Amino acid sequence: MTKHKTRLFSGIQPSGKLNIGHYIGAIQHWVALQNQHHCFFCIVNLHTITVAQDPNILQEHCYDLAALYLACGIDPKQSTIFIQSHVAAHSQLAWILTCLTHMGELSRMTQFKDKSQQHSQHINAGLFCYPVLMAADILLYQTNLIPVGEDQQQHLELARQLANRFNQHYDKAFTVPKAYIAKYGNRIMRLQDPTKKMSKSDTNSRNTIELLDSPDIILKKIKRAVTDSGSEIRYMPDKPGISNLLTIFAQVTQQPIEQLEKQYRDQKYSIFKQDLADSIIERLVPIQEAFHLIRSDTQQLDTLLQRGASEAELIANQTLSRVQLALGLLTRHA
Ligand code: AMP
Ligand code: TRP
Repeated sequence: MTKHKTRLFSGIQPSGKLNIGHYIGAIQHWVALQNQHHCFFCIVNLHTITVAQDPNILQEHCYDLAALYLACGIDPKQSTIFIQSHVAAHSQLAWILTCLTHMGELSRMTQFKDKSQQHSQHINAGLFCYPVLMAADILLYQTNLIPVGEDQQQHLELARQLANRFNQHYDKAFTVPKAYIAKYGNRIMRLQDPTKKMSKSDTNSRNTIELLDSPDIILKKIKRAVTDSGSEIRYMPDKPGISNLLTIFAQVTQQPIEQLEKQYRDQKYSIFKQDLADSIIERLVPIQEAFHLIRSDTQQLDTLLQRGASEAELIANQTLSRVQLALGLLTRHA
């Protein structure tokens, strides 16, 4: 696991059902990248409690997410898979970084603005400081590369800023990370409203293809997906519905969009949609089968997650000690 020089970190919140956007925009890249880097794939449950959670459901979601990582092809022999709250250094570094962050930097975050509108009854300081915790996740592991969706770019920029700020004022304790944003598929849109991102928190299930949706549900949702006026199957800015479906098709079959445009040039939407649904089903069914098998053995998942946390902790604690020492928080001979 130490053979790679570069390190990569990414995470997903255990806050609900994963959809095909998570697979296309995140997990499938992780699987491809894990051979070239030492990867840390985290289940970021501390981020999830910025919104009130049922404790039992949160635990179940953590296991579900770990099982999905594995079912999608993350290899625990190559990559470190762990739960954020199992490594105390995340919370410890987050506090230190909070003290280096300006209020203005956090109030400019577009995700904070959106989320605080959605949860206007329950805005806590955690929601405001969320990007600082994310910076701690990343910086603890001396990470070089962070694969994220487009929406996380602003948070990543803060992590870079904080790393530079600390390195300049105290000690060069942090590697300054770079975002890895995939060219295509980093923003899969809703099936009923292709101007908005497909999201876990969406209450209209017709908008999303969940990774664990059954084949008949997938077919139904794709058939009902909105298409644009006209009948052409082309990727164009004024055809957000068809463009989104073409993106999903291209990603699940790993072929260029132009090839699909050619293939379906004179076809009806109904044929295109049937073939798209078949391709999604073909891709997701083996993942679903693997998921159910892995998820049924909670003990084995626990063992794997504990091992992941121990591996992560070893590296995280080294960074944390260096930071604490630089700030005078540890006595030198302790
Ligand atoms: P989240 O649901 O915010 O925990 O998302 C976890 C990761 O999946 C992040 O890197 C997101 O940018 C990515 N992601 C989430 N939804 C989508 C989507 N609709 N299209 C592409 N990537 C997504
Ligand atoms: N904030 C990210 C999201 O909602 C999840 C996340 C937390 C993350 N910590 C991270 C992603 C560190 C990349 C690196 O998608």
